[in-house]
Amino acid sequence: MLVVPAAGRGDRLGAGRPKALVELAGEPLLVHAVRRAHGSGAVDVVVVVAPEGAVDEVTALLAPLQLPDLRVVPGGAERQDSVRLGLRVLDADVDVVLVHDAARCLTPPAVFTAVVAAVRAGAVAVVPVLPVTDTVKRVRGTLVVETVERSELVAVQTPQGFSPGPLVRAHEAARGAAPATDDAGMLESLGHPVRTVPGAERAFKVTRPLDLVLAAALLREETP
Ligand code: C5P
Repeated sequence: MLVVPAAGRGDRLGAGRPKALVELAGEPLLVHAVRRAHGSGAVDVVVVVAPEGAVDEVTALLAPLQLPDLRVVPGGAERQDSVRLGLRVLDADVDVVLVHDAARCLTPPAVFTAVVAAVRAGAVAVVPVLPVTDTVKRVRGTLVVETVERSELVAVQTPQGFSPGPLVRAHEAARGAAPATDDAGMLESLGHPVRTVPGAERAFKVTRPLDLVLAAALLREETP
């Protein structure tokens, strides 16, 4: 089962509408993301967490994909709330849950299959990662206080994969706490091991206006 949190406002993108509904090559980011995720063959049920008031619009946007089992639910104030609300419609017999940001709309199929395979092989939580290429420093105000050893750092992407029970329990336990930006981090803080698989450059998150330019260029390159 796949949960796609798509209820963010997208303030940093500055498009004046929810980020998942911003268009790229004539289709919303969400439609690109769900088409690729389902096309990987690694997911059956798709749960999309829609911006408040946009459940009908999102259902209509995804109708052309003719998904065998699509469930659209309204989201919450923070990403963590949206994922928790998506997990409420989980079926009891699911063996793997993927959580994938709508904003990572060009994630290649191989990342989905690798994450699902790692969970089926016994991992409780799996994250796709890429090495960090910039030097990363810790700062206080305008003063650098530390340069972090880069060889130990990775950037974390989605889809993140989970054994359903621990993920649902972590989300229910985290209610009311400071919001997490990443689902695997919630399991990590409960002491569960989190495994990594290789991520992909194309799984970058569309966050700022420049990311939309890059995504559009990559799509043009893919289209024969
Ligand atoms: O804001 P950020 O880029 O980290 O959001 C990551 C994903 O989480 C996006 O796909 C966004 O739509 C989703 N989100 C959500 N509910 C929120 C905030 C973000 O579903 N309240």
